[in-house]
Amino acid sequence: MTQWALHIHLLMAISWIGGSVFMFILGITLRDKEAQKSVYPHVGPIFGWFEVVSLIILLSTGFILGVKFNLFELLLHPNGSKISHALLMKVILVSILSIATIIHFIIAYKTNGKERTKWQQIFSRGSSMLIFFLNLFVLHYAIILRNIL
Ligand code: HEM
Repeated sequence: MTQWALHIHLLMAISWIGGSVFMFILGITLRDKEAQKSVYPHVGPIFGWFEVVSLIILLSTGFILGVKFNLFELLLHPNGSKISHALLMKVILVSILSIATIIHFIIAYKTNGKERTKWQQIFSRGSSMLIFFLNLFVLHYAIILRNIL
C-alpha cells in the first residue's frame, strides 16, 4: 500500500512541479498579447484542473506516507533532529503553497478570458511566482527527508 503511495506521490510531484516550471517558462516567453489571448483561455482551465488534482493527490499520498513513518508525532513534538527540521519546513512550505494555489485558482477561475483588475493581476502573478519558488524549496526538503527515511 505505502509502496504505491510513494510511487503515486512521486508521479504527482513530477506533474505538479513540472507543470509549474512549464507555465513559468510560458509566462516568460509568450509575451505577445494576442497570442496570450488565444492560448490562455484554452490552456488555463485544463492546466488549472491538472494542477489542482495533482496537488490533492500529492497531499493525500503525503499524508499516507506521513502515517507510515509516524511523522505526525514528530511534527507535533519537534526534537531538533535533522529529520524533524526537514519535515517541519516541508509541511510549513506546503501549507503556504496550498493557500497560494487556492488564491491563484479562484482568481484564474473568476477572470478566465476577461480583463483583470490591477489587484487581481498582482495577486495572481504574485501567487504563481510564490508557488514556483516554494516548489524548489519543498523539493529540497523532500529530498532531505527521503535521504534520512
Ligand atoms: C507540494 C507538495 C509536495 C511535494 C511537491 C512533495 C514532493 C516529494 C518528493 C519529490 C519526494 C521524493 C523525494 C526523493 O525521492 O528524494 C517526496 C517524498 C516524501 N513526501 Fe512529499 N511532497 C509533498 C507533500 C507532502 C506532504 C504534505 C507530506 C506529509 C507529511 C509528504 C511526505 C513525504 C514523505 C514521508 C516522503 C518520503 C517517502 C519515503 O521515503 O518513502 N509530502 N515528496
